[in-house]
Amino acid sequence: MNVVGVLGAGAMGTGIAQVALAHGHPVILVDNDPGALARAKVNMQHAIQRDIEKGRLEPAVASYTLETTDRLDALHACALVIEAIVERIDAKRHAFKTLSDIVAVDCVLATNTSSLSIASIASAASRPERVLGVHFFNPAPVLPLVEIVPWLKTDQQIVSETRALVDSWKKTTVVASDTPGFIVNRVARPYYGEALRIADEGIADFATIDAAMRELGGFRMGPFELMDFIGLDVNFAVTRSIFEALGFDPRYRPSLTQQHLVDAGLLGRKTGRGFYEYAPGVSVQQPLGDRELGERVFDRILSMLINEAIDAVHWRVASPIDIDLAVTKGVNYPKGLLAWGDERGLDRVLAALTALQEEYGEDRYRPSVLLRRMARDGGRLRE
Ligand code: NAI
Repeated sequence: MNVVGVLGAGAMGTGIAQVALAHGHPVILVDNDPGALARAKVNMQHAIQRDIEKGRLEPAVASYTLETTDRLDALHACALVIEAIVERIDAKRHAFKTLSDIVAVDCVLATNTSSLSIASIASAASRPERVLGVHFFNPAPVLPLVEIVPWLKTDQQIVSETRALVDSWKKTTVVASDTPGFIVNRVARPYYGEALRIADEGIADFATIDAAMRELGGFRMGPFELMDFIGLDVNFAVTRSIFEALGFDPRYRPSLTQQHLVDAGLLGRKTGRGFYEYAPGVSVQQPLGDRELGERVFDRILSMLINEAIDAVHWRVASPIDIDLAVTKGVNYPKGLLAWGDERGLDRVLAALTALQEEYGEDRYRPSVLLRRMARDGGRLRE
């Protein structure tokens, strides 16, 4: 089996290293912080042991080769290196430039970045056609989706080979274009953004919105519970970076309420309070139980989500099949948004957006040109 190198032994690097190791690759994990390496080793050993006890992994995996080191040149014999260091462009460009002089000419260099352009990272490497994005979700050993992100110059064969390799790790891969947020982080924005907007306007409270999306939509968690779970700071940073990277499009405008909570350090479950309070004895907020209101909330958020997914098809972010796979496997939506659009009727989605746009007079609610065309000409997004 080919040697896989992972640069960065934080939450993501450790998880990715564990996935490669569990599928038989000798793994070299590199970090410039020895403390991070020590923690990564212990965490991986525990996780692998637990998976062996539960019968999810062969006992032999415990003896597979894992090398941890702070020396970048240890990566010289790798066939693939996945970078998962700090999300800073200067650090990543420096790492890719240095790595280029260390690895063999046929090594593939991948980045796990979630918000930087692959082009900006790859262009620092001396063989940029061998660089692409391989974007795992957190926790990498558990979540099945991986977005494969070629940039303008990535060799097509590198894309196919890397995708096949990650598929062999029992992951679901989708191919996304090198655009802000790739598929999932872009298409999922309205789930949070429109819910925040509805709450900010006082149309419904957090618990009522959450209940509508769970009970009427079949989503596993409502938007506010989910933001509390993800961490408001993490969620807010993704929204802000997409808002900026897409030219301050009002569709992605961050919510002031969320910003204030982040400023105040109320970050969700991890700090004991975000949209909800998690201290023992605090009573849980109850939804209003108003079915008509719930339907309105659900219809508005779902219409915005479907519009976003259709717009991603229009802008060639990914194929319809991959967009639907990405949301079902990456954020556990009960259905693919494009299949949902077909099922609901594109006329109905268009009517919902047009009514919102007319009422608010805001560009935020503009229907995607592809939605307009398809509603006019007929046809389905998913054949
Ligand atoms: P983290 O902060 O947990 O870990 C980063 C690690 O990189 C640290 O151990 C740090 O010591 C090390 N590091 C920093 N600069 C280095 C350098 N120049 N050379 C060697 N090691 C260096 O970060 P996390 O959350 O694991 O994220 C890593 C990457 O994965 C980022 O690009 C992030 O955007 C991306 N990502 C994060 C997700 C998440 O939910 N945390 C999800 C998907 C992608």
